[in-house]
Amino acid sequence: MHAGRRLAQAFAIARRCTSSASSYPQEKRSLTRWYSTALNLHKDSPDNNPNVPWDFTPANMATAKEIMSHYPANYQQSAVIPLLDLAQQQHGGWLPISAMNKIAEVLGMAPIRVYEVATFYSMFNRTKVGKYHLLVCGTTPCRLRGSCDIEEALLKHLGVERNEVTKDGLFSVGEMECMGCCVNAPMIVVADYTKGAEGYTYNYYEDLTPKRVIELVEILRRGEAPPPGTQNPNRFNSAPAGGQKTLLCEPKPPPCRDLDAC
Ligand code: FES
Repeated sequence: MHAGRRLAQAFAIARRCTSSASSYPQEKRSLTRWYSTALNLHKDSPDNNPNVPWDFTPANMATAKEIMSHYPANYQQSAVIPLLDLAQQQHGGWLPISAMNKIAEVLGMAPIRVYEVATFYSMFNRTKVGKYHLLVCGTTPCRLRGSCDIEEALLKHLGVERNEVTKDGLFSVGEMECMGCCVNAPMIVVADYTKGAEGYTYNYYEDLTPKRVIELVEILRRGEAPPPGTQNPNRFNSAPAGGQKTLLCEPKPPPCRDLDAC
C-alpha cells in the first residue's frame, strides 16, 4: 500500500479510537482513553485501609521466603516485585494497602518504597479487578490491527467501562501497552485469578476478532480454559497464515573468495 495511504489509514484508526464515533460516552472517554490503568490515588475505604488485617497464607509465606533466599541478605528489598505479584495473586488480582504494608514489614523497607513500586508498574492493580482481568493491548501495531474494536466488543458485551468490574465479579477490562506479541496483533491477555496463587495463569490470546473475543469470554464464564496463542485456525504460532512463504529451499552459502587460488 502507498505510504501516504497507509499513514492516512493509521490516522483514521487513531481518530476512531478517540473520537465521538466510538461507543464510549464522551464524559468517560476524556478520562479512560488517556490512562492505561486505573488511577493510583489511594483513599481509605472499608475494605482497603491500613487497619484491615492482611497476611500471606502459610504456603505463600513459604514461597515468599524462597523468593527472598535468591537475594543477598543486604538486598532483600530487591524481592519487592515478585512479592507484590504473589500478594496480588493471593488477593484476587489487586493490592490493598495492608498487603503492601505487610510486604514492607517482611522485606524490612519503608512502606512508601513499596507503594512507589506498586504504583509505577501497570501490572499491579490498586483497585479491584474481575476474577478474569482482560487486558487489551493499546499500542500502535495492535491498534492498527483492530484492538479498538476488540475493546469495544468486550466493554459492550460485558456492560462495563474500562477498569470497571462486572456485577458478578467475574470480569474486568483494562489496557496494557505492547506485550511483545505484535506479529500476532491484535491480542489480549487474560489474567486468571480464579484459583489463587497456586493456579494463577497469565495467557496471551492472539489474532483476535470481535467475534472470537466474545467467544473466549463465554468459554471462561463456563469455567473452561480456551487454548491460548493464535486464534487464527490457519496459522501455526507466529508463522505466516497459510504456510511458509520464505526460506523454502536450502539457503545459498555466503560468497567467499577462492582461498586455493592464491
Ligand atoms: S502492539 Fe500489541 S503486542 Fe505489541
